[in-house]
Amino acid sequence: MDKFIVYKSKLSGTVSINGSKNAALPIMAATLLTDEECVVNNVPDLMDIRTMIKILEVLGKSIKFENNILTIKSSASKGYVAPYRLVRTMRASFCCLGPLLARRKKAKVALPGGCVIGPRPVDLHIKGLRDLGADISIDKGYCFAKTRELEGSHVYLGGPFGSSVLATANVMSAAVLAQGETFIEYAACEPEVEALAHFLKKMGAKIEGEGSYRLKIRGVKKLNGCVFNNIADRIEAGTFIAASIATKSPLCIKGAEPFHLTSVIDAAKNIGSDISIDKDKTIFVKPRQRLKPITITTLCYPGFPTDLQAQFMVSLCFADGISLITEKIYPDRFMHVAELNRMGASIQRNGPYCIIAGKDKLYGAEIMASDLRASAALVIAGLAAEGRSEVLRVYHIDRGYEHIENKLKKLGAKIKRTKQ
Ligand code: EPZ
Repeated sequence: MDKFIVYKSKLSGTVSINGSKNAALPIMAATLLTDEECVVNNVPDLMDIRTMIKILEVLGKSIKFENNILTIKSSASKGYVAPYRLVRTMRASFCCLGPLLARRKKAKVALPGGCVIGPRPVDLHIKGLRDLGADISIDKGYCFAKTRELEGSHVYLGGPFGSSVLATANVMSAAVLAQGETFIEYAACEPEVEALAHFLKKMGAKIEGEGSYRLKIRGVKKLNGCVFNNIADRIEAGTFIAASIATKSPLCIKGAEPFHLTSVIDAAKNIGSDISIDKDKTIFVKPRQRLKPITITTLCYPGFPTDLQAQFMVSLCFADGISLITEKIYPDRFMHVAELNRMGASIQRNGPYCIIAGKDKLYGAEIMASDLRASAALVIAGLAAEGRSEVLRVYHIDRGYEHIENKLKKLGAKIKRTKQ
């Protein structure tokens, strides 16, 4: 297992943003909808992408992944089982269910279970697919789904915490081959879901309303292969914005889509950063030396993303006053709080709320990464804290950030990967 040794650092320069992991994963699953070749450009080389490749190989795809380009072809085998040993390492594997059901009429996909950021049920996925006429049962930790023919329907996907990104992906990817029309109400509007809709449309699917709460899908008989350019990772871009603020270092962020970051840029400005965006969409972040406390509430897109809550909490640890973070997507996603407090932060958690009393300094410590985004937050905290920090269990970060330490080093960060 690896760890990072991190020292307080000032950053400067330009960082390039990779393709989006969370857009790429359901797009990869959707290639199960055709036997023709699909090529996806701008795919980040991450552990989660490698896991999805293994799952697709088990399901009969043959895959080449070079220079961030995925080429996915069909092989002779036509599996329909996504086994637990792979699904348990990555929940997004569950979005193979919809495409398998639509194309192969049956699927057996392991139930992913809870994870460190909360319970994470899949009831909305199952409800949505049942609404399309799938016969679904749960047995021995697996979801068994079959159908003679999926049929278009009115599907409501609102849950207790709003819309669901991967449930929308699953149901949309099944409805594209269903008979007749499907309306998905309370669909997720996240750019990653919109990107999936654009990919499906390139395959020949008939979808309207992508990027909105209401999707209209007219089922087609067959989908073709295509070449698709993946979108940029807004969460990676937001992570560098948070790093810039916490270390009070100016940064230039290239390759992101600023339009996908409106709520994040708004929060960054409110904390006290001058942000400008030039014609080629490069984002310039210039944090002020004194940071202001703010209120952040995580919400479904276009609200502030839960996937940036931990990173922005670190920035707020250095604000002049009391900030409030409310987590409305995953009320338990606060594993980083105890670690930040061990570094001298003053954060009180009460249910889904965290009250953060800003301090002048945090102090380096040995800290333990718990999930992907919390790990990124702890690396930022290490760069902003006095002295030396050790971030343990960084395999989490490798799931979602391609070579983050190399990118940070190029910006001047003192960070080293060693064996734990
Ligand atoms: C996606 O997960 C992302 N993962 C997550 O990113 C992200 O945090 C999340 O969306 C929210 O934006 C991928 O895209 C691979 P949800 P997903 O279904 O789709 C509840 C990261 O760090 N819910 O939108 O699984 C759920 O418990 C990861 O990159 C149900 O109640 O999240 C949560 O409270 C972590 N029933 C809320 O909805 C369901 O059937 C939103 O979750 C499904 C979800």
